[in-house]
Amino acid sequence: VPIRSRSTLDLGGVTTRIRFVDSISGAVNGEQALFVCDEHTVRYVPHGGETVVLSSGEANKSWDSVSLILEKALERRLGRDDRFVGVGGGVVCDTAAFAASVYMRGARLTLAPTTLLAMVDAALGGKTGIDFHDAKNLVGTFYPAEEVQICLATLCTLSGREYLSGIAEGLKHAFLGEESLYSMFRNERTAVLAREPRCLERIVAGSIEVKGSIVEADPKEGGIRAHLNLGHTFAHALESVTGFCTYTHGEAVAWGIGRASRLGVALGITDRRYAASVIALLADYGYPVSGVRFDADRFLEYMKADKKRKAGEIRFVVQERFGVTRTVTADESAVRSVLFDDSAVE
Ligand SMILES: NC(=O)c1ccc[n+]([C@@H]2O[C@H](COP(=O)([O-])OP(=O)(O)OC[C@H]3O[C@@H](n4cnc5c(N)ncnc54)[C@H](O)[C@@H]3O)[C@@H](O)[C@H]2O)c1
Repeated sequence: VPIRSRSTLDLGGVTTRIRFVDSISGAVNGEQALFVCDEHTVRYVPHGGETVVLSSGEANKSWDSVSLILEKALERRLGRDDRFVGVGGGVVCDTAAFAASVYMRGARLTLAPTTLLAMVDAALGGKTGIDFHDAKNLVGTFYPAEEVQICLATLCTLSGREYLSGIAEGLKHAFLGEESLYSMFRNERTAVLAREPRCLERIVAGSIEVKGSIVEADPKEGGIRAHLNLGHTFAHALESVTGFCTYTHGEAVAWGIGRASRLGVALGITDRRYAASVIALLADYGYPVSGVRFDADRFLEYMKADKKRKAGEIRFVVQERFGVTRTVTADESAVRSVLFDDSAVE
């Protein structure tokens, strides 16, 4: 069953147009465009485009990169009716979008995500930002792109590990309630891993549908948008305690969804058989759902410091079953009890 994807996203009065394209394009109607990319994605910038090439990697989601972009924009005399075009993964998209949002109080913005993670997540929803003093996304704005261009062909140069990192967010969207995506992940693993175009299209379109409807309903994260954090309270703490260099974001999220499933079972919320099937599916895709070890005390410290905590309690997103998701608080001992528990859930 083909998944029909929305072609627009309405966020707090701003409409983002989403287009599947064969190649990335830039300026429209005589505007100037400034492309922002990194050394791995510069090949996808249209020939002759004015370009800022950042160095790749999370360390470059920084003031220095923003400064480079703004300098170039100023040098080219871009006005606020001209366009910034971010061509790259989440690092480039977040940084370019942040720069666009502050340049002359807001220039036009197109995002052309080139990693699966950025197509299904980072380029959608209006969050921009950079890291500051070792804190991820500490400085940022809310600034939805006018346009998101999705060129699936760019995914063919992505490394296997980065591809799987994006698949984890696609799986998360499926668990949140996209039935046909869930069954494709379960029944067509080989085709998914082989990046068959029809699978790519369904993963991206299905994710746009799920993330799109959630962020439209709750643009500023007052309620239901928190569901998109399924697995993320665990994931962020794992990424922090392992210094952001052991696991990709997707690996951490997959581990986190597994741990949230176990926590849900421990709290008497999650259906055991559903939790077991989620964990088995994540393991099938090769994610580290068991055997992950670290300093539990430091992990808990990071978890408590997470900016999503409310009034001193740690909040988690758990599922009762497929498509039924809620936010709960849990005490430290419940979290500790599931951290290293690799026993069978059923
Ligand atoms: N704004 C949001 O709502 C949001 C949501 C999720 C994640 N993020 C952010 O996204 C970032 C992670 O994004 P990511 O996983 O895309 O990582 P990334 O941007 O670091 O890209 C991963 C690597 O793949 C390379 N790359 C990108 N596209 C490629 C292609 N087509 N072919 C070959 N190589 C390519 C990059 O150069 C980089 O080396 C994090 O900073 C995270 O905070 C933001």
